[in-house]
Amino acid sequence: MADKLRLAVFASGSGSNLQSIIDSCRSGSIPGEVVLVISNKKDAYGLVRAEKAGIDRHLFLRKSFSDSDTAGHHLLGILNEHGVDMIALAGYLRKLPPVVIKAYRHRIVNIHPALLPKFGGKGMYGMRVHRAVIEAGEKESGATIHYTDEIYDHGQIIEQEKIPVYPDDTPETLAARVLEVEHQLYPRVIKSLAEKILKERKQ
Ligand code: GRF
Repeated sequence: MADKLRLAVFASGSGSNLQSIIDSCRSGSIPGEVVLVISNKKDAYGLVRAEKAGIDRHLFLRKSFSDSDTAGHHLLGILNEHGVDMIALAGYLRKLPPVVIKAYRHRIVNIHPALLPKFGGKGMYGMRVHRAVIEAGEKESGATIHYTDEIYDHGQIIEQEKIPVYPDDTPETLAARVLEVEHQLYPRVIKSLAEKILKERKQ
């Protein structure tokens, strides 16, 4: 019986959350291993991080497939080949094909840089989120970890951490402070989910 959870991380961007997950696995804090990194952007720095860490990488381009189901089954094949138990989305800007969401229901998590259900949904990513928070005059923002379902930023919330929004915050300063929170929160939540899945497996 494997005592480590096999994780796939999907990242379209700089992959700083991916790095915090890799580091937490390697330090033994998360009882898991990142076995696969998937991106939809060939120049994503997350792919470089994966290469440096000796982790298998895969570029997944939905448009290379005729329809969502074909794309999804291709992706499921790659996830199965790597024996992936759980998926963490970390700055992945595409919806996963529904067949993948269905196959990994309650085993796909996402991180969002605001306090959902506010400031989420299609098109709400990157600086747009932080700009919207500031423009709305919010006094608090933060990070949310939630299960992924078929709708953007919609699945059940697992955990949130709040930080204050300061009067002189810019989208950039707020983004930087939220990201610091993300780097602590995401590994912590993945650790507890991994422990839960491994425990259930043993029963
Ligand atoms: C993070 O802010 C995350 O909440 C959002 O995308 C960003 C990814 O940053 N989903 P990074 O690529 O992990 O640095």
